Amino acid sequence: MTPTDSLVVVPTQPVSGQRPGTSGLRKKVTVFQQPHYLENFVQALFDILPEQVGPVAGQTLVLGGDGRFHNRVAVQTILRMAAANGFGRVLVGQGGLLSTPAASAVIRRHGAYGGIILSASHNPGGPDGDFGIKYNIANGGPAPEKITEAIYARTQQIQAYRTLPGVAEVDLQTLGRSELGAMGVEVIDPVADYAELMEKLFDFDAMRAWFAAGHRMRFDAMSAIGGPYARAVLEGRLGAPVGTVVNGEPLEDFGGHHPDPNPAHATELIAALSGPAAPDFGAASDGDADRNMILGRDFVVTPSDSLAVLAANATRVPGYRDGLAGIARSMPTSCAADAVARALGIPCYETPTGWKFFGNLLDAGRATLCGEESYGTGSNHVREKDGLWAVLFWLNLQAATGQSVEALVRAHWARFGRHYYSRHDWEGIPVERADGLMAALRARLPSLAGGTLQGLRLAQADDFAYTDPVDGSVSRQQGVRLLFEGGSRVVFRLSGTGTEGATLRVYLERFEADPQRHDLPTQQALAPLIEVAEEVAAIRQHSGQAAPTVIT
Ligand code: G6P
Ligand code: ZN
Repeated sequence: MTPTDSLVVVPTQPVSGQRPGTSGLRKKVTVFQQPHYLENFVQALFDILPEQVGPVAGQTLVLGGDGRFHNRVAVQTILRMAAANGFGRVLVGQGGLLSTPAASAVIRRHGAYGGIILSASHNPGGPDGDFGIKYNIANGGPAPEKITEAIYARTQQIQAYRTLPGVAEVDLQTLGRSELGAMGVEVIDPVADYAELMEKLFDFDAMRAWFAAGHRMRFDAMSAIGGPYARAVLEGRLGAPVGTVVNGEPLEDFGGHHPDPNPAHATELIAALSGPAAPDFGAASDGDADRNMILGRDFVVTPSDSLAVLAANATRVPGYRDGLAGIARSMPTSCAADAVARALGIPCYETPTGWKFFGNLLDAGRATLCGEESYGTGSNHVREKDGLWAVLFWLNLQAATGQSVEALVRAHWARFGRHYYSRHDWEGIPVERADGLMAALRARLPSLAGGTLQGLRLAQADDFAYTDPVDGSVSRQQGVRLLFEGGSRVVFRLSGTGTEGATLRVYLERFEADPQRHDLPTQQALAPLIEVAEEVAAIRQHSGQAAPTVIT
């Protein structure tokens, strides 16, 4: 039997709800386990690629996931479908694994046509948890909305998918090349390309010396895919003591935890970093290792501050020695980075939430560093946010300056002022209620501008819209903003990454120039803005909840 003889066209029917969100299609595992569910989405992708991007025949695709439950099954399904759709070669991470930033690095390094990443990021995993799939384009970054919308449209019309049902499962454990029908499958070391890239960007000698001098670090991989990468780089190449990486074994259910590196979910790490005997440096990454959290001893760095500190100190690190072309942040991320950009005389771009919006700015050479309040930081080295990269950047800064995390941040605040920042999440709101809240808020906008709320003068009240300066595409309704005189902000938007009900995110920010007032408890510093949010949006009434479920 020749390979094409075994190609089967399977009839199917459209399934509703396959619209990718902020970062790909995310649903419960049980949804993905429904017959044809994954196949429909993947075929829809393969169907639209020729028109959106170019012919797929003979092309190279990258494939891997964060190892969560259903990863193995999905990888085999996609391999068979890629072969049946005419791809020439698939590079797949050993064991079907690739962190999101590593997938981006592999796509770029091998000049691949694109890649499929299987992950629901920081969402819990396991049979009752979440699964996800997203497509990345040749630059290594998430597909832009034009492509995700085309996929969605196609899922609504799909009648059949192509696969090779007769072939044996690909052995994903053994490195090297095999054949699947007429397609080559190369099982690659998931860490190698990525680790080499890190060595080019950072001063590994200085970081080795930092560990050799007795400094200690704790990296919590949250039982997710970050573990193998952190071990290989920190304990392997940098000589950190064995045990520096904790929860370093990727588990299909992340040990039952929520693999989201923030103070609400990484409580074990926060506890381990408190007290005089704590390590100097603490860090964590999420399910697919693109997020990061940075801690000093008894000190938590907000993601917005992290971006600003990295930008202000970038030239201390080899990969950024020549300076930055620009900085980009998502709209709800604090304006701390803007202050740095002003001082450096470079642009600071404000984009909608979602890493995909940074792609054009990075490709066009307009931005070098990017960051989001949602614990995402990255640069032009790949086209995804990159957890371990951010951790190494902070490590390099400590090694280069001899200063602690806390000292670096405090010096930064003294120079640029402090942007107090917090996000309040109201999870599990029934969708109609959440939509009602946002609609009511939008309806109030015209009457708010110029007025006063809780004694604060409102300079501007709007619904954020973004025009991409590179391709001119426009994204509207990206979040309701209340901008106050003096730089305080309250932003409301609905999350695009959840799988159950709606999550309202309320982003709170207040600028404080006076170093005498840089030590307030964050929630206290933001109290008037928390009041404003409730007054304007009637969150308790709409949500039926008494308090936010997560505060970061
Ligand atoms: C993912 C995306 C980020 C985004 C975050 C929160 O991590 O990659 O770009 O900031 O989700 O998105 P959400 O729509 O849930 O606020
Ligand atoms: Zn993630």
